[in-house]
Amino acid sequence: MSEHLQVERDGALLTLRMHRPEKKNALTRAMYSGMAEVLRQADQDKSVRAVLITGSEQCFTSGNDVADFIQAPPTGLGSEVFQFMLALFEFSKPVVAAVSGPAVGIGTTMLLHCDLVYVSRDATLKMPFVNLGLCPEYGSSLILPRLLGHARAAELLLLGQSFTGEQAASWGIANQALADGAATLAKAREMAQRFEQLAPAAVADSKRLMRAPDREQLRRVIEEEGALFGQRLRSPEAIEALSAFMQRRTPDFSKFA
Ligand code: COA
Repeated sequence: MSEHLQVERDGALLTLRMHRPEKKNALTRAMYSGMAEVLRQADQDKSVRAVLITGSEQCFTSGNDVADFIQAPPTGLGSEVFQFMLALFEFSKPVVAAVSGPAVGIGTTMLLHCDLVYVSRDATLKMPFVNLGLCPEYGSSLILPRLLGHARAAELLLLGQSFTGEQAASWGIANQALADGAATLAKAREMAQRFEQLAPAAVADSKRLMRAPDREQLRRVIEEEGALFGQRLRSPEAIEALSAFMQRRTPDFSKFA
């Protein structure tokens, strides 16, 4: 498994930690593959009752590795990132997230597919897809307008505006905002550990029922977004934006009609 992932077991709780501090936990293809594999195994393992996904107290994740986006862009349903998101989408047990510091791009998108989300008050969440010449992914274009209303979702998805953990909690993206990273992780762990005492099949049935009404529509939207995202990654707009990030400059979109 990727050296940038840490897996811990504490009773019935499996914790999956993104650990690539020198790149702010940017997600590589190897990390996505590892995370997908951990989830698939945890789903089969009866002794696991819940999974906790986290980063460090300083950073949840800066999103997809931008160098990977340039050198090895994901290609459709077989790609590592798609396999990870599919494993999360299909996961039958509760997934809890503990988020501190930046949660960028897929770092925010994945929270929409978790069951319980705890954030630090000053966490910074952001889906800067348009800023990178890209488009929303993994159902966020469906989920966010429904959850937040079109106007607020447009600020997040059409402007790529960032928001705090406190806002995420008040808007219903997160369950609760806590004082700092340590308090956030402690709360997420406490809530995730509750599943050890609960009836596992009842929890799994309840999760499936809660997700069922939107499931097929969501699956179609995810495929449509994925096809467009792949095209956009090869677009001149995205190439300009991704190169600008690597060169630490502001992208220049003035030349695009
Ligand atoms: N992919 C690849 N490298 C990344 C990265 C990413 N998504 N995010 C950060 N890094 C790298 C930086 O290039 C830098 O590398 P270097 O030290 O070799 O130059 C290192 O991680 C530290 O990042 P830096 O930007 O200096 O840290 P910061 O504390 O000033 O800012 C973030 C942290 C997370 C706010 C900022 O890095 C950021 O906005 N990254 C997001 C990139 C992005 O757009 N991701 C979404 C993809 S959809």
